[in-house]
Amino acid sequence: MNIIVAATGGVAALKTPSLIRRLYEAGHKVRVAASDGAFHFVTKLSLAVAAGEAVFDRERWFYPDGQALHIDWARWADLLLVAPATADSLGSAAQGRADDVVSALILAGVPRVVWVPTMNSSMWQHPAVQRNVDTLRGFGHDFLGPVSGALAAKGERAGLGRMMEPEDIARQLQGFFKSQDLHGQRVLVSAGPTREYLDPIRFLSNPSSGRMGYAVAEAARDRGAQVSLVSGPTTLPEPEGVELMRVETAAEMLSALSSRFDQTDMLVMTAAVADWRAKSVASEKQPKMGESQVLKLVRTPDILAELAKHKTKQIMVGFAMETHAGVERAAEKARRKKLDFICLNYPTKENSAFGGEQNQVTIVKASGEAAALPLMTKLELADIILDRAVKLLPTG
Ligand code: CTP
Repeated sequence: MNIIVAATGGVAALKTPSLIRRLYEAGHKVRVAASDGAFHFVTKLSLAVAAGEAVFDRERWFYPDGQALHIDWARWADLLLVAPATADSLGSAAQGRADDVVSALILAGVPRVVWVPTMNSSMWQHPAVQRNVDTLRGFGHDFLGPVSGALAAKGERAGLGRMMEPEDIARQLQGFFKSQDLHGQRVLVSAGPTREYLDPIRFLSNPSSGRMGYAVAEAARDRGAQVSLVSGPTTLPEPEGVELMRVETAAEMLSALSSRFDQTDMLVMTAAVADWRAKSVASEKQPKMGESQVLKLVRTPDILAELAKHKTKQIMVGFAMETHAGVERAAEKARRKKLDFICLNYPTKENSAFGGEQNQVTIVKASGEAAALPLMTKLELADIILDRAVKLLPTG
């Protein structure tokens, strides 16, 4: 996407260069514009260095041949991202003025505008500012934040008015560009390990990080789905805009998933469910006794197999970790668990191990038909899984 990042005069303009860098990293082309006020807080040079080209400001409004930059740039851009956006910049755009670069770009017809406001809480809440926000929403503009947190002014308490952090802005923008092909669909995702307790403090588990499932949940949310995420213990932050149900054991995971399964259109089961649990769980911590111990284990429920008994319309996707005979074993699991397809990976292969940012899977159908995908980030893989699953949804 072609993005114009426009900084206006708030102290958060200091963060605009790092926002520009994040957008580059996410694969966008970026140009930068700035109002006069922005230069009180960030230098023209640091914006130009981050963007890799000259800043569009009042001094550069016209090319030497007389062509106006705001017209030319508005044609180039897919999106204008005003970060930080001051109360003044909102007011000027709401009134349809063209006396600064931001409002001029808007009047020149940038196809999409996203505001990232920052200001003192009282200013943000003032009816005049809120009226301007409503007006701009009425023009089809979007807003990211402000968020709550420490405010810049000395002696100012924390409050609503802080600019959203650059990495959050970059992440949220990804959603703006995605097709909304899961709009109106309910997607249920499981993630992370389960813990099967031996006593109150010891348990059987595995090193699953939950990243794959959280990536699927966020990708589905960004494509417009209503998402429920059933998660075993992980250290990942709670994804915004997703119903998060935290569980520990396989039995709890089964019960949380069952409570949503009937209304679900699509289930993606990435959780690494522990297959065994202790036959009896000690109510107190057990001191060690003797030189060896025998632990009696019984099977945990096979969650997918249990849910499959109630399958009606649901598209079901599973994951399988194998160290050998992968495709045949994965296809057999897909048949047994009534899966539409299963993502096979080899945890012993480099880059596919638990916990990493990347994954390499082979998509296997119950028929045994298999398609090997290249190594990619878990977020990229999440979208590919959803691309395949969405095609299987009943249309209309
Ligand atoms: N799974 C499940 N319930 C379990 C174990 C696994 O629902 N008790 C799900 C996993 O989340 C995964 C799929 O089943 O989506 C395949 O997991 P895997 O552990 O490979 O399958 P198992 O049936 O347990 O087979 P194996 O005998 O190879 O462990």
